[in-house]
Amino acid sequence: MSSAEPSNTAPEIAPPLLAWYDRHARALPWRISPSERDHGVVADPYRVWLSEIMLQQTTVQAVKPYFENFATRWPTVEDLAAADTEDVMKAWAGLGYYSRARNLKKCADVVAAEHGGRFPKTEEGLRSLPGIGPYTAAAIAAIAFDQPAAVVDGNIERVFTRLFEIDTPLPSAKSEIRAVVGEATPEDRPGDFAQALMDLGATICTPKRPACALCPINELCQARRSGKQEQFPVKLPKKAKPVRLGAAFVAERPDEAVLLVKRPDKGLLGGMTGVPTSNWTVRADGETGTNAAPFKGEWRSKGVISHVFTHFELRLEVFHAVVTNPPDHPGWWSDRDSLPGEALPTVMKKALSAAFPGLFRKGKT
Ligand code: ADE
Repeated sequence: MSSAEPSNTAPEIAPPLLAWYDRHARALPWRISPSERDHGVVADPYRVWLSEIMLQQTTVQAVKPYFENFATRWPTVEDLAAADTEDVMKAWAGLGYYSRARNLKKCADVVAAEHGGRFPKTEEGLRSLPGIGPYTAAAIAAIAFDQPAAVVDGNIERVFTRLFEIDTPLPSAKSEIRAVVGEATPEDRPGDFAQALMDLGATICTPKRPACALCPINELCQARRSGKQEQFPVKLPKKAKPVRLGAAFVAERPDEAVLLVKRPDKGLLGGMTGVPTSNWTVRADGETGTNAAPFKGEWRSKGVISHVFTHFELRLEVFHAVVTNPPDHPGWWSDRDSLPGEALPTVMKKALSAAFPGLFRKGKT
């Protein structure tokens, strides 16, 4: 191309990108490698779906061991449908965004009971299932069923805003980006195309210091041509997260058992296990201290732990007490040794660790 203003290059992207993917695809446990594919191995929609749900808002590194565990314990969607919900929540503990786990189980139930154990093949059909939004439907349709769906995650947004110097700030740029990704998505191998873009974004077209010299589509990249790669994507400044305050209560019996409760199904950490807490409020008051304890006791502060959720930061003051004759309270008393096997989200592990340092250190869980 001779002019400084290239014409639309979208359809030119797929061939060099797929050739690069054939040589450099990351080996991931849910993936069919290009060579397996050449030997006739096809994607298992169950594994693709499971991985995509886990990968929502979560890194590949964090997901790998969870995926391996789930796929070994529940190798088919029918196995997951037959599983006990509580076991699924326990296996998910630590991965975060727990509504995903509840919807995962619901979705497995629906696919097993209403679809004969087979996932729908279209984006529309997939979107009708619990926990599957537009992004995940597109990813599953492309990767599991070779549908030419436009898959746009954060990595792909970065790659495309650079390729086309899209300077509309995110998130407003999303529809513009989706349109070019749609134009660029090939009829042949759309799933590999999406995964190649994800790999490119994760390993080469990184947020800082992208390795443009190694990029298989660097000649098609407008931002590289003008040396502005790191100026894309343009983002609106992030608002500071509000802080919420609360108290968490680690009640211990003389035999070292700890009181745990199941949180209500609805809301943040819904259906997960934890120690009793106060409400989480925007200001410190009587309700965020020992007044909110589940029962009277010698509550001693063990410090404040902090956990960042999507929309706010939570600071919990952790109180501990040994209680000799605890009154009846909803929940159950879990042996200290059983705590690592409970469905405890990370924030609850932090609270318990404030009372029992080292409880969840590697080798102990
Ligand atoms: N992130 C979301 N889906 C992914 C996938 N299939 N491969 C790698 N990273 C991903």
